[in-house]
Amino acid sequence: MSVLKIEGGRPLNGKIKVQGAKNSALPILAATLLSRGGCEIRNCPRLKDVESAGKILAYLGCRVKRDGDAVFVDTTDLDRFDIPDGLMREMRSSVIFLGAIVGRAGEAKMSYPGGCELGPRPIDLHLSALRAMGVDIQEEGGMIICKADKLKGANISLAFPSVGATENAMLAATAAEGTTRIQNAATEPEIVDLQDFLNACGAVVRGAGTNMIEIQGARNMYPCKHDVIPDRIAAATFLCAVACAGGDIRLEGVNSTHLDSVLSILAEAGLRLEVRGDTIRAAKISGLARVGPVRTMPYPGFPTDAQAPVMAVMATARGCTIFVENIFDNRYRHVGELIRMGADIRVEGKVAIVNGVPTLSSATLNSTDLRGGAALVVAALGAEGESCVCDVNHIDRGYESVETALLELGAKIKRVDE
Ligand code: EPU
Repeated sequence: MSVLKIEGGRPLNGKIKVQGAKNSALPILAATLLSRGGCEIRNCPRLKDVESAGKILAYLGCRVKRDGDAVFVDTTDLDRFDIPDGLMREMRSSVIFLGAIVGRAGEAKMSYPGGCELGPRPIDLHLSALRAMGVDIQEEGGMIICKADKLKGANISLAFPSVGATENAMLAATAAEGTTRIQNAATEPEIVDLQDFLNACGAVVRGAGTNMIEIQGARNMYPCKHDVIPDRIAAATFLCAVACAGGDIRLEGVNSTHLDSVLSILAEAGLRLEVRGDTIRAAKISGLARVGPVRTMPYPGFPTDAQAPVMAVMATARGCTIFVENIFDNRYRHVGELIRMGADIRVEGKVAIVNGVPTLSSATLNSTDLRGGAALVVAALGAEGESCVCDVNHIDRGYESVETALLELGAKIKRVDE
């Protein structure tokens, strides 16, 4: 088990390039199944979740190889359509393979993903979208068994703009006869990236980024090369790190428009931000102050994935900041750990009330989940003394060697295997 030892109170300075987006890379790796042959996915981050996606592809019969930041997937010899329980449990978002496997093979079998550290994670919207396209779905003994003699285009209206359900519907619709319209679709940048990948493979998908996506299915699909978009949540996390630790950093290779809601909150708190092309410069000139309520919402609203790191920032900002978590039921598990560092935070249901304190103190902390763990690293960078962040495996699911990037910025951080 690895732990991160972090000596807080050292300002961050310098520049780093931001990794490719985990939440784009995963559905795109699944989407490689829809064409036969070798795809090259570039700017593909080295993460545990990406490795798990690679293991699933290999299990299905694909050849998977990494070279630098590129992952090659050759789907020619795909010969299975099931995902074993062990691989499903490695990564909850494996459910994204459902639409792609059904699209390619006409059948799929996997275990139900179940809940996770963020609370219950139902997939009813994924399944009803697939059913609308003619997929027969049996749910037996924790397994989902899908069969479709022929996938057909459908009008799908999602009750909530779920990211995963939108992606699964897009993947299956690419292989379906006729036109599919997804209404109330998620509008996240990762959905646009998936559309761009599918279109580069010969699909005809329009409207991603709006709440109506149209797919003309059953086109001839071929492999392609694709560059994954930058990771907006990793970028947001590094901005929070400088907001806590102080200093002056430059993030390179970012798309700042994907970060509008986060940038406006951090600017309101007093972080000085300057966007130029694909770089963001962030400098902490003075102490930060409270911001108006931070309400997590589907994109372009404030992202739930940035809630925990921004809370770590507001823990030492002057005044009281209210957070409202509207996306997941159980996304305040980092709060108990921040309180151990001296933060003044009260949670009531969806609401967290954060009263800024002058400083946090070091502590031994448990990462509770991916973004909660990242928030503890952010808080530790600004705290007095040496903190120890345990269960780093959660953080490794979404951040490409977080300590290497922070070391480049001058942080005093080291990974210790215990
Ligand atoms: N939901 C349902 N039924 C469904 C699907 C979703 O009720 O069939 C509910 C969920 O329970 C949740 C809400 O809808 O309360 C939002 O879920 P969504 O489906 O949009 O999320 P997801 O696709 O499971 C992706 C990201 C998450 C990110 C969310 C929201 C990936 C691999 N994961 O999850 O990323 O928080 O969208 O933006 O793309 C992370 O990176 O740390 C992470 C958790």
